[in-house]
Amino acid sequence: MKIQNIEEYHSIYKQSVENPEQFWAEVARQFEWISPFSETLKWDFEKPDVQWFINGKTNITLNCLDRHLANHADKTALIWESNDPKEKEIRFTYARLHEEVCRMANVLKNNGVKKGDRVCIYMPMIPELTISVLACARIGAVHSVVFAGFSAHALADRIQDAQANVVITSDGLNRGTKEVAVKRVVDEALDSGCDSIQKVIVANRLGWTVDMTHGRDVFLHDELLKVNADCPAEPMDSEDMLFILYTSGSTGKPKGVVHTIGGYMVYAGYTFDTVFQCGEKDIFWCTADVGWITGHSYLIYGPLLNGATTLMFEGIPTYPDAGRFWQVIDKYGVTHFYTAPTAIRALMASGVDHVLGYNLHSLKLLGTVGEPINEEAWKWYHLHIGKGRCPIVDTWWQTETGGIMISAIGHFSPQKPAHAGLPLPGIQPVLLNNDGKEIKENEQEGYLAIRFPWPSIIRTTYGDHERCRLTYFSTYNNYYFTGDGARRDADGLYRIIGRVDDVINVSGHRFGTAEVENAINQNKKVVESAVVGFPHYIKGQGIYAFVVCEKIPESPDFTREEILETVTQEIGRIAKPDKIQFVTALPKTRSGKIMRRILRKVAEGDTSNLGDTSTLLDPLVVDEIVQGAI
Ligand code: WT7
Repeated sequence: MKIQNIEEYHSIYKQSVENPEQFWAEVARQFEWISPFSETLKWDFEKPDVQWFINGKTNITLNCLDRHLANHADKTALIWESNDPKEKEIRFTYARLHEEVCRMANVLKNNGVKKGDRVCIYMPMIPELTISVLACARIGAVHSVVFAGFSAHALADRIQDAQANVVITSDGLNRGTKEVAVKRVVDEALDSGCDSIQKVIVANRLGWTVDMTHGRDVFLHDELLKVNADCPAEPMDSEDMLFILYTSGSTGKPKGVVHTIGGYMVYAGYTFDTVFQCGEKDIFWCTADVGWITGHSYLIYGPLLNGATTLMFEGIPTYPDAGRFWQVIDKYGVTHFYTAPTAIRALMASGVDHVLGYNLHSLKLLGTVGEPINEEAWKWYHLHIGKGRCPIVDTWWQTETGGIMISAIGHFSPQKPAHAGLPLPGIQPVLLNNDGKEIKENEQEGYLAIRFPWPSIIRTTYGDHERCRLTYFSTYNNYYFTGDGARRDADGLYRIIGRVDDVINVSGHRFGTAEVENAINQNKKVVESAVVGFPHYIKGQGIYAFVVCEKIPESPDFTREEILETVTQEIGRIAKPDKIQFVTALPKTRSGKIMRRILRKVAEGDTSNLGDTSTLLDPLVVDEIVQGAI
């Protein structure tokens, strides 16, 4: 939806709230349906049961690919840039991408994948990843992409939870100067018992020799020789599952967030168009990995639904040096650049010299996502990358929301550093107080919740609907609860403060404190642990672990390394604590509950006022912890 100015925004917003079903039905009719929906919405937040575009039949790849063939067959759909700046890029026109997706879909069919089956995709950022995602959608299989930085253990958990039938992977991967034997991680995961897996399809990235299990493992390049490019899109129901994506919460293991076809398609397409306002010749670059929701919605689906050109980058911002992002923008004339605050802070720290040699005149709009952006980073981004001319859209949303919810729009929204801004038309956020009542006034802080469904709201957590209800729909009756705290300023702009639950946001990646504690506790020297977040200059939040060992380690550095290794094995390198403090006991109440409030204060380095500690079983523990703080 191309909204031109703030007055138009306000008027559309008003209509969207007064008559949401009509609003969304109109948005949805801009997509191609095999048969139209008969009813726009049915909802009940108590169960929860939300259905959009009921009885509609479509296939998201018809809208991402086939639809553009008539007028845009030769337009570039996807540009792939290698980790290695010397390796030549690959460009896919819409016609070629369509063809490759159909071939891949036929490979999946030949390997036994049927409509409704779950396919786990564990791959580096190579074109085959995008093609695999779309190929699943083409035949109605459910994709579950697992970020290739997760460990074998974490991968196995996700495969088992989804009961996936097939894994698509690669021989290895390159990121910066690092090489990872991806296939070996898959083997290790499958060795630990993933009985649902029948086939492993291996793409060739590095040309390595890998172990192949006979009857189970096949090479993608061999399989592609056996198929043609003819694969009609499977007609799918609006509420059929499109994908599962695992994300961390405050309790237990990561859960599989489920998105369905009709609603996700409409919302990913609508938000991409509305927020970024890409033009016909623009080049859109989202730096997120496809292993996260941002990569799903704004590297693949959002841009392709709109017939845009999307750039996929295999590497990291600091290889071969901290100028890589700017070099790539210069090389392709990127117009829209969407990245995470943590990347901006890291590049800011390496100095503006890395920016100076590149021509960034092509840029029209900048975006951020994943965590609050601090004012300093916002200003640096605005001045040194946007040269003061490009608006910044600070987009707030979540894996569970499927797409952007609160954000500036295109070129006209008010620009206020550290504020996500106004809700998109169709989105009804509220701030709730401690009693669960809506705070109507501005300049107040509260719990951020949403009071009306939007098309890509989470439908369930895979295999455990009750968990979905408990996590998102039971804290406040008849609201979707986000887990975030927020403030509304005098003009109604939202500023996201951060999580109010036990979730830590490290460089835009989400971890549950319980999840990291469980990983640490797997180390045999560890008796128990407590994990909290603390402000980290680059990562936004860092992980601080208080660890009780059987006996105080004689060489703490060595034990620390061992614990880091355990976490790497259990979850992956990205979850390694930044600080580990060994303590003799954790501060617990008489009922055995850990007083995290105190640990958070210690981790933040603010021990001047620890508040009431009288309910602690052993208040002396606190003194020891304060003294040993890192
Ligand atoms: C959590 C969701 C949405 C894609 C990436 C993260 C935080 C996200 C912002 C923002 C402040 C933000 C929230 C949210 N968050 N965007 N623009 N400003 N905080 O997805 O892993 O599902 O995490 O990220 O705390 O709840 P996710």
